[in-house]
Parts: sequence; C-alpha cells; structure tokens
Amino acid sequence: MSKILVTGGAGFIGSHTVVELQNAGYDVTVVDNLSNSSEKSLERVAAITGKKAPFHKVDICDREGLEAVFAAEHPDAVIHFAGLKAVGESTQKPWEYYENNIAGTLTLVDVMRKNGCKNIIFSSSATVYGNPAEIPITENCPKGQCTNPYGWTKSMLEQILSDIQKADKEWNVILLRYFNPIGAHKSGTIGENPNGIPNNLMPYITQVAVGKLPELGVFGNDYDTHDGTGVRDYIHVVDLAIGHVKALKKIEEKAGLKIYNLGTGQGYSVLDIVKNFEEATGVKIPYTIKPRRPGDIAECYADASLAKAELGWEAQYGIREMCEDSWRWQKNNPNGFED
Ligand code: NAD
Ligand code: UFG
Repeated sequence: MSKILVTGGAGFIGSHTVVELQNAGYDVTVVDNLSNSSEKSLERVAAITGKKAPFHKVDICDREGLEAVFAAEHPDAVIHFAGLKAVGESTQKPWEYYENNIAGTLTLVDVMRKNGCKNIIFSSSATVYGNPAEIPITENCPKGQCTNPYGWTKSMLEQILSDIQKADKEWNVILLRYFNPIGAHKSGTIGENPNGIPNNLMPYITQVAVGKLPELGVFGNDYDTHDGTGVRDYIHVVDLAIGHVKALKKIEEKAGLKIYNLGTGQGYSVLDIVKNFEEATGVKIPYTIKPRRPGDIAECYADASLAKAELGWEAQYGIREMCEDSWRWQKNNPNGFED
C-alpha cells in the first residue's frame, strides 16, 4: 500500500499528517475544497518535506470530481479529514453540517468502493462519548448523547462506516477518536488557522499572546475538577499525525474494523494550560472567569493504552512543547497563511 488520498489535507491536522506520511515514504494526494483552509499550507508542507503532493480542489460531495481524482490517482487507502467542525456553527446550520459531513462521506465511500479502494481511516472525536460514563475514557465506554449536530455527524458516521465494514469484510475501517489537538510543526510554518474569533482554547490563548485579543475568558471555575476549570486531554498535532501513519500500518495488516482513542491520557485544566503557556513562552495571559459554556463537560481524558498495545503508538510530546510550538506558529504567522 503506497498511494494515500488525504481528504481535508490542507487543514490543520491534515497538513501535519501529509508531512508525516511523506516522511514515512508514502505517495500522498490531497483533496480539499479549501472551505476552511488555504492552499498555502500545502506549499509549506512541500517546503518541509521536499515533496509536492498533487492537490485537487474538489468537494467530497462532488461525485464526478471525486471520480476524476480516483481515475487519475488510484489510491490504495483514504485518510478522511474533510468535514466542517465548528461546534457552535453546527447548532445554527445543522443542515449544512449533515449535508457536508454525512452526504460527503457517503459519496466518498461510494466512489471508493466502485474503484476497489476499501481502506479508510476516519477522523472521529472524543465528542462521541458525550458526558463520559467513565474517566479515563476507554474505547469500550458507551457512546453518549452529543450536545450538537457536529458531534452527531461524527457519531453517525462511525455507525455508518462500521455497518459498511460488517456487511463487506473486504473493507478495513479505522475510527480514530481524537482528544484535543494543539501544537504545530516544529518549523513554525504550518499550524491551526481558525476563521474569525477562535472557539477553542489554545488558538484563543495564542491570539491573546500575540495581541489580537485583549484577554481570555475562562468558561466556568465551579466544575468538579482540581481547580474548578474544565479538564481536557491535549495532544500535540504531530503525535496525532504519527498516529495516522501507525493506523495505516494496521490497515496493511487487514485490520477489519478498529476504534482507537488518540490522546495522551493526561488531563490539564484551563488554568493549567494558561500557566504552562506562560512558563513555556514568557508571555502573560490575562484572563477573567466567565459563566460556563453551554454543552461543556467537566472532564474528558483518554485511556490511550489500546493504541499503544495494538498500534505501537504513544504520544511523545508534553504540554510544554505543545505550548511552545503553538506559540512559534502564531508568533511567526500572526495572520495565519495570509502574510
Ligand atoms: P480543518 O477545518 O483545519 O480541516 C478540515 C479540512 O476539510 C479543511 O481544509 C476544509 O477546507 C476541508 N473540507 C471541509 N469540508 C469539505 C468538503 N466538503 N470537501 C472537501 N474538503 C472539505 O479541521 P481539523 O482540525 O484539521 O480537523 C480535521 C478533522 O478532524 C475533521 O473531520 C474534524 O472534525 C476532526 N476533528 C478535529 C478535532 C479538533 O479539535 N481539531 C477534534 C476531533 C476531530
Ligand atoms: N475554554 C475556555 N475559554 C475559551 C475556550 C475554551 O475556558 O475561550 C475551555 C472550555 O470551556 C473547555 C476547554 O477550554 O473546558 C477546552 O475547550 P475547547 O473548545 O478548546 O475544546 P473542547 O474540549 O470543548 O472541544 C474540542 C473540539 C471538539 C471535539 C472535542 C473532543 O472543539 O470538536 O474537543 O474532545 F469534539
């Protein structure tokens, strides 16, 4: 298996994964409609790896466009990142989220099977656990009630892909449940580039640090956690990217249907992140305590032992490097890829 199609490859996690795939010797093709990314990220990827991945500006809902890509590239496997991911926006535009994420994936999978490509790694999320029944969260933890349409698209797509694999054992399907990806490539040339005011904690902090936003709002300090603020399992995006390379090796061994958490197993609170960011970068982050954000849970962190046992994968980077690398990217690129 050498030719890999990466959907959503111009985005945050996709671009880092293209780097690691190329470094591991895979021949990578990217499909992205650039709805939440810039083609410049792929130029930066090529500068890092010395290899330019063929790029197709195609929407995964566009069957003819996808068929042309498969006819040209003949991929052996697909790593499927393409999707809309803004939790708040999904509550305002549920139809757009279900159409893009679910109809898009159904079209992709149909074009794959018609072309004899039945290997897929899917970007799922810890959000499928809802308010988790157990902490740390193992893959056996029951899926929960999602609090927004985005989360439901992940939960439903897990079900759809699982059912397809159960009906046709030629399929190999790996569902990767990401915890909270942050950080950036060490070069500081690729990273997360949110549109408008960030919703997520780390990009908000780096924009405060670079002076684009005045202060951080901490959403609640009355949770049942060690300091009252929400606890999450932050994982360096390069570790996450390497997890996909390991999952591809598993697919090559005819994985069938597998589900893995990709997290570090370590939980940090919002205030832990502020403190680590300040210590790692020397930049002060002013903050005020705000009310809880609707839909948030107190704690979410992984039991990551299954991925270690079955994929031989374990996160290498700690919270300091996550903070340093997020900051290097933001400081060098205050306006993302637009400079
Ligand atoms: P991102 O927005 O940076 O990347 C997604 C990419 O998909 C973008 O480049 C976008 O232009 C593209 N895209 C969206 N809809 C498309 C379509 N219809 N056709 C073609 N391309 C399309 O997001 P990311 O953070 O890199 O996330 C990648 C995947 O991982 C997503 O599926 C996301 O839901 C999932 N995920 C992300 C997180 C996170 O916190 N970042 C957590 C869990 C899961
Ligand atoms: N937070 C703040 N202030 C902010 C932003 C976030 O205090 O300005 C807090 C949140 O309340 C939470 C923590 O920081 O306690 C992390 O929040 P994020 O928005 O960064 O991440 P979430 O855990 O809420 O959600 C993320 C992704 C989801 C994904 C989920 C998987 O946004 O898409 O991780 O665990 F499903």
